[in-house]
Amino acid sequence: MTNPINVIESVSLDDRNDTLVLLDQTVLPNKKEFLNLTEVEQVWDAIYNLKVRGAPAIGIAAAFGVYLATKQSTAETFDALYDDFRKHKDYLATSRPTAVNLFWALDRMERRLHAESASSVASIKLALKEEADLIKKEDQEVCEAIGEHALTLLKPGWGLLTHCNAGTIATAKYGTALAPIYLGQERGYDFKVFADETRPLLQGARLTTWELNEAGVDVTLIADNMASIVMKENKVQAVLVGCDRVAANGDTANKIGTSGVAILAKYHGVPFYVCAPLSTIDLQSKTGDDIEIELRPQEEITSKWYSEPMAPAGVKAYNPAFDVTDHELITGIVTEKGIAYPPYRDSLAKLFHKED
Ligand code: MRU
Repeated sequence: MTNPINVIESVSLDDRNDTLVLLDQTVLPNKKEFLNLTEVEQVWDAIYNLKVRGAPAIGIAAAFGVYLATKQSTAETFDALYDDFRKHKDYLATSRPTAVNLFWALDRMERRLHAESASSVASIKLALKEEADLIKKEDQEVCEAIGEHALTLLKPGWGLLTHCNAGTIATAKYGTALAPIYLGQERGYDFKVFADETRPLLQGARLTTWELNEAGVDVTLIADNMASIVMKENKVQAVLVGCDRVAANGDTANKIGTSGVAILAKYHGVPFYVCAPLSTIDLQSKTGDDIEIELRPQEEITSKWYSEPMAPAGVKAYNPAFDVTDHELITGIVTEKGIAYPPYRDSLAKLFHKED
C-alpha cells in the first residue's frame, strides 16, 4: 500500500520555473490535480477559494507566493524592493482572516527581508527563498513532534474523532491532529477514526477520509450531527482537532462545528485535545473575542455541493467558517514543545520560552 505521508506534497516551489505548485484540494477526492501558479493574484485566489487550505499550508503557500512575486520585481534598491514586497504582502494578507499562520508567515518573511537590508537585491531575493523553504521544512518537523506528544495521550485500539481536515495536506507533512494517527498507524496502534463530514465544505468527508484511507487507517465517515451518538455508544475515547488560531487564554478558533463537538465531548466525558503548532498560537489575541471569524458566501450552504439547490432560492443563509471553542472545554493543547494544560494563559506563554 502507498503511504501518502511520503508522497503527498500539497504545497511546493518550482523555483526554476517561478511557479508555486499546489494540490487542488477543491477537486479531491475525485481528482488529484496540481495547479501551477505564477502570479500573486492566482495565489490569493487559491487561498481564498481553499485550493490550498489548513492553517500551516496557507502560511507556507503565502510565504512562497510573496517570495515569487518579489522575485519578479525589477527594483534595484532595497527601498524599492521593500515597497514591492509590502504591496504583495499586504495583498496576500487579505485572502483569509482567521488562520494566524497566514500573517505569521508573511511577517516572518518581512523580518528576513529587513535582516538582509544591507545585501544586494539579488541576495535578498535568495534569502526570501531560503526563509520560505525554512518555513516549510520547520512545519514538517513541528508536525512530527506534535504527533509524538499527542501519541502519549492515546492508547492502542482507541476510537478517535476528528473534525475538518488537520492532516498531511493541510501542512507540510503529517498534519497536526492527524499526526499521532499516522505515527500510531506505523506503530500498530490500530486506531478507529471517526471523521465528521464538516458541513458546509466537507473537508472531513472529502479530505480526511481520503488521506486516512490511502494510508490504510480504519476511518469511518459520519455526518456532523452523529458525533453525539458515537460518543454515547462509547466508540470514541478522545477527540483530536487542529486549529486556526489559539488565543492567549486557550480559546481556540477552528472549523465551524468544532465548539459543538467540544461541548458534546465534555458532556460525554471524552477528552478533547487541540493540536497546535506554536505558529498558530497568537498571544496578541487575548481571548477568542479578539479572533476575526471569516464569513463566506451563502451558496456554500445552499447549493455548492448539490446538483440542484437544497434551499429555496433567495433564502437567507449565515456562513461563518470558524467558531471559537472556549478554553474551559479543552483538555489539553498539544504543541511541538509539549502539552499545555489549564490554566492556558500560563502554560501557553511558558512554551514559547521552552528550550527544545
Ligand atoms: O477552512 P479550512 O479548510 O482552511 O479550515 C481548516 C481547519 O479548520 C483546520 O482544522 C485548521 O486549519 C488546522 S490544519 C492543520
